[in-house]
Amino acid sequence: MIVRHPCYGSDVSGKPTRLALIGCGFIGGVHSMVLRGLIAAGVVDAAVVATCDADPERAALFAAAHAGARATTDPDEAMDGADAVWIATPTSSHADLVGRAAARGTAVYCEKPLAPTLAQADALASLATERAIAVQVGLVLRHSPVLAAFDHAIHSGDLGRPMAAVLRDDQYFPVGGMYGSTWRAEHAVAGGGTLIEHSIHDVDLLAWLLGPIVDVAARSRNFSRHPGIEDVLVATLGHDGGATSALASIWHGVVSRPSTRRIEVLCEKGVLWTEDEHVGPLWLQTDDGTIALPCAPDRAHAEILERAFDALDMPQEWRGSLTSYVLSDLSFLDALRCGEPPFPDLATALEAHRVVAAAYGDAARRDTRA
Ligand SMILES: NC(=O)c1ccc[n+]([C@@H]2O[C@H](COP(=O)([O-])OP(=O)(O)OC[C@H]3O[C@@H](n4cnc5c(N)ncnc54)[C@H](O)[C@@H]3O)[C@@H](O)[C@H]2O)c1
Repeated sequence: MIVRHPCYGSDVSGKPTRLALIGCGFIGGVHSMVLRGLIAAGVVDAAVVATCDADPERAALFAAAHAGARATTDPDEAMDGADAVWIATPTSSHADLVGRAAARGTAVYCEKPLAPTLAQADALASLATERAIAVQVGLVLRHSPVLAAFDHAIHSGDLGRPMAAVLRDDQYFPVGGMYGSTWRAEHAVAGGGTLIEHSIHDVDLLAWLLGPIVDVAARSRNFSRHPGIEDVLVATLGHDGGATSALASIWHGVVSRPSTRRIEVLCEKGVLWTEDEHVGPLWLQTDDGTIALPCAPDRAHAEILERAFDALDMPQEWRGSLTSYVLSDLSFLDALRCGEPPFPDLATALEAHRVVAAAYGDAARRDTRA
């Protein structure tokens, strides 16, 4: 028997939740697959009713994966009759699409970043808040069991106060390899480079683990010379409560090296680290020695994950890296079903945008070569 979100049984609608997917590219493909797995396994009572992309062939290809789904290039048509929409288009288009969803009262799962600039992200959030629609933001690390275990260890009280963190996040410049599109090299669409496009996840993670970020200093560099797209950003962040963190975010040219993170948190009486935020291991060193802490999904979620992955015939070696995406989509659907606010929410995402904007501002003041 699957144990669900505590409120799951409170739903009395008896009708499947109708979903639309706008943006049939890289991450839209991940959500499409995850939703197909959750639905096929009978884990959620939902149906993808429409797929939408500016490219009609992509929309049609995605629709073919969901029985009864219609394909369209018109976002409004996609949202007709949908209870919730996934917005997985390039960053600069999110605000318009969230605005359209808000106007009709449709719940939204919006990919991160919300928008290229803080002002645009604020405006997007205001539209959604005015219409009181449910919004979850694709800061999927919030649903990583490894990072939840990391958070639990830091805040257990056994390790003293967290003092500092070091987070290195690097990947190849994402206009090639598995990222088959070029918009990440366009400032007006992406809003910047490695910090906003990729490490907004890290900013949010550091705020989660060490507390709200109250002070930011940064330097950026632009080796690849795409105007306004930094490929190095190194920041030091001051956290409410006294901890300090260092974030190094880099897009290089080593195409054989995918997205990797190493995060270390140094507490007064223990040091925690992982080199894989999706599958661990999560290490803890204290005066008693070094151990791997449990960081697998809990039993209920492990069972759901197994059923969804089995329904997709997913190879074992891919399952770990998709876990946070499955749990993120599941959490959104459960929240809608139960009438609870989804998480991470707009306020959480806006906090990360504020730090990103402050880092860019500080880097611009210091870096004449950027
Ligand atoms: N949460 C994560 O881990 C994660 C990972 C990758 C990307 N993202 C975010 O997801 C978004 C999409 O990234 P991607 O890598 O999937 O991009 P992509 O280029 O692979 O796909 C975007 C798709 O949207 C379509 N499109 C563009 N404008 C549109 C519009 N107005 N209406 C309908 N379709 C439109 C394009 O034709 C394309 O098929 C970005 O904001 C990115 O930052 C998040």
